[in-house]
Amino acid sequence: MTESERLVLQATQVLTCPGGAGARRGDALSNVGLVEDGAVAIADGRVEAVGKKAELRDRFPDAPRVDLSGCVLSPGLIDSHTHAVFGAWRLDEYELRCAGVPYMEIAKRGGGINASVADLRRRSEEELVQLARGRLRRMLEHGTTTAEVKSGYGLTLEDELKMLRAIRTLSDEDWIDIVPTFLGAHSIPSEYKERRAEYVELVAQQMMPAVAESRLAIFCDVFMEPGVFTPGETRRILESAVGHGLVPRIHADEFESSGGAELACEFGAASADHLGAVSDSGIAALADSGTVATLLPGTLLFLGKEGYPPARKLIDRGVAVALATDFNPGSSPTVNLQVVMSLACSRLSMSPAEAFVAATANGAAALRLSDGSGTLEVGAPADIAAFGVPDYRLVPYLYGTNHCVAVWKRGRRIH
Ligand code: NIG
Ligand code: FE
Repeated sequence: MTESERLVLQATQVLTCPGGAGARRGDALSNVGLVEDGAVAIADGRVEAVGKKAELRDRFPDAPRVDLSGCVLSPGLIDSHTHAVFGAWRLDEYELRCAGVPYMEIAKRGGGINASVADLRRRSEEELVQLARGRLRRMLEHGTTTAEVKSGYGLTLEDELKMLRAIRTLSDEDWIDIVPTFLGAHSIPSEYKERRAEYVELVAQQMMPAVAESRLAIFCDVFMEPGVFTPGETRRILESAVGHGLVPRIHADEFESSGGAELACEFGAASADHLGAVSDSGIAALADSGTVATLLPGTLLFLGKEGYPPARKLIDRGVAVALATDFNPGSSPTVNLQVVMSLACSRLSMSPAEAFVAATANGAAALRLSDGSGTLEVGAPADIAAFGVPDYRLVPYLYGTNHCVAVWKRGRRIH
């Protein structure tokens, strides 16, 4: 290794979010691993050293340096729940909601997810790739270096595979990392409205083996909620998922409690997401499990709902909590995890430190990434976001704007 192949980034604060692979719980969730006047040495796409500026200057006297005085360096943000592949925005529905019509009522009338399904089925794979690439680019510009992306707007075998291939095309590109999830159970498509058991079997018996065989997804998700998929249907689909080697995750207890968190834990799911209405037994199950509770407060803000998840109770009981955007055209059209962190502080009573760990290390845990992603510990991928503020607490505090000024992915500056 010559000095010129090494790069040292120097900043006012460096957050390492320490703790190795696996989720942080309890007090560990507030350990951002703060280094004041810190520096990160990058070599071969990985973090080679982290410490005080002066230390790294002594250790690597001839390495090129980037001066980021006035900035915070953190692990690239990990957005562990997105629906970033879709066609059009849903503006008519937005107006209806602004006029007071609830999200689930719009879905009952045939709008909502099924409106995006009708739209996506008309579009080509190439078009979906192009639309999603622009959106993921904006996500990256907000500091996200790894994003989970779900299918779930196709809801036929062909259209689900089309979405998953679009996701694959994007993940083969060498910039943002993408983790693919199969969400054939996002909604009962309108043509199966009167034959829902048949649709569940289509997902379990035909889509699942095809998705598994093509290796287009790692995870399988289900939108389990009264009015969407029942506990029995969810169980059927996840049993098939596990049988085909896909790892479960669940949209659980978003608006009403229906035992989603409990079922996620029973299946050893990677995450239970939303949890606005999680029950006490659901909290107890999560505390005893390896399932990460992924909270999506941007969705509740956008839908104008008050049912925020009990983050304090979850954290105090020892549940591993992550934060994500839920980026989608219906319930959360934001790519900005920084604003989700602001909501976590203001509406979920999380501290700025907890919000950072939940959006980095615990996002990585929710995606079962074990290579150090979500941390800046030695050996981790050099996925780094620079925020143009001198104190990490200013990122959620100065809410609503994008503080991200630079991004490195595997040591390469890409923003
Ligand atoms: O997580 N809840 C289900 N899926 C998304 C909404 C998707 C949509 O409305 O298009 C969510 O909120
Ligand atoms: Fe979602």
